[in-house]
Amino acid sequence: YREQIPIDKGFDNTLAMLKDGYLYISNRRKRFGRDMFETRLLGGQKTVCIAGEEAVKIFYDESKFKRNGAAPKRLRQTLFGEKSIQTIDDSSHKHRKQLFLSLMTEERLQDVVRIFREEWTSTLDVWIHKEKIVLYDEVTNILATTACKWAGVPLPQKDIAIRARQLEALFDSAGSVGPRHWKGRQARNTLEMWLQKIVEDVRKGNLDAPEETALHRMTWFRDTHGELLNPEVVAVEILNIIRPIVAITIYIVFVALSLVENPKEKDRLSNAGEDVYEMFVQEVRRYYPFFPCAVARVREDFLWKGHDFKKGNLVLLDIYGTNHHPDIWKNPDQFNPERFKDRAENLYDLIPQGGGEYAKGHRCPGEVLTIEIMKTSLNLLVNHMDYNVPDQNLSYSMRRMPSLPKSRFIMNQVKKI
Ligand code: HEM
Repeated sequence: YREQIPIDKGFDNTLAMLKDGYLYISNRRKRFGRDMFETRLLGGQKTVCIAGEEAVKIFYDESKFKRNGAAPKRLRQTLFGEKSIQTIDDSSHKHRKQLFLSLMTEERLQDVVRIFREEWTSTLDVWIHKEKIVLYDEVTNILATTACKWAGVPLPQKDIAIRARQLEALFDSAGSVGPRHWKGRQARNTLEMWLQKIVEDVRKGNLDAPEETALHRMTWFRDTHGELLNPEVVAVEILNIIRPIVAITIYIVFVALSLVENPKEKDRLSNAGEDVYEMFVQEVRRYYPFFPCAVARVREDFLWKGHDFKKGNLVLLDIYGTNHHPDIWKNPDQFNPERFKDRAENLYDLIPQGGGEYAKGHRCPGEVLTIEIMKTSLNLLVNHMDYNVPDQNLSYSMRRMPSLPKSRFIMNQVKKI
């Protein structure tokens, strides 16, 4: 059967989308009583919005969708970079995806956690002497240092704060217009130039990059034709490692916020087992907003649930809404780590970092790294330090993308325990 799905009327609803933010798709799904509707976005292009587990399955079926030409230019100019892995398909995508996944061995994940813990612990020695700290800014610096060390990219002490702010601008600008967007574009140009020079130095033999690092692997990676990538693309892909590691600062601030919003959880966590930490972190990733949606284009015409998907149409997968979908999650708007107890593995329901299989589609290759860094932060916050959370505005907007508590989480009276 074929039917007309509900339509969010208007020639271009991009402004409505910016206005409703993370809830743009959910609000309309509720209004229409369907997990699929049509709208016009990004210059009036016909776009189908979908949500729920079945939708995730179809969205990650590569015979139905492609990514090339899907992400809007303003995202490529800030968040992704041109010719990045997010924008390619088929064999060249799979080949490059293996490169990313090969960096995530057990051993290398232990390395990143160790570096991160060392950086946090030595910074804690500074925090205890300060009147107050802003957790978001502090952790951004810690993660920028960690990411560069882990990736083999030299970062002199004097440059940490400035590079950290530039890396932050890449993801902070992604969902914005005006000055915040321009700051992101400028930061991207500066960072790409910096990394291109480093890649050229490695190729000329002027700089040593340890074999296991992203810098080494990406500099010497050969594409499906056996060619080295040009230095611009290598810079883009190294940023695809460093930038999202720094972005974990957002989740870490949400971890801290969740401890304030759920004070009982803190007692349960003190010296609890690894599985309790894992459940907690999964709930933070499900509950708090980060990526609102993922975007693709229809590869060839097909029919699904009564709708004719037409070649070239845009499709948005509702990430935030699927993580709060009432068919998947009981009381979705309650924070409850227990929901992950004895939960069967499912590649299509918890999708803060995309869905499906890592090697076959565009699901985030940094997901396990993210979870490990979040667990380590939770452990540090609960078991290795004491702090006071003074009065401040901890509310976070469902319009600002990425969202973040307004005060960026101020702490005082920080002590080591
Ligand atoms: C892709 C989220 C951390 C590297 C993605 C996607 C999402 C996402 C939603 C797109 C999925 C899709 O298009 O289907 C996040 C969030 C993170 C995070 C919320 C938390 C900060 C990381 C980390 C790394 C990373 C730590 C690397 C160290 C990537 C790459 C892609 C990607 C390279 C593109 C994969 C592809 O196109 O095949 N991420 N990510 N991300 N992520 Fe992450």
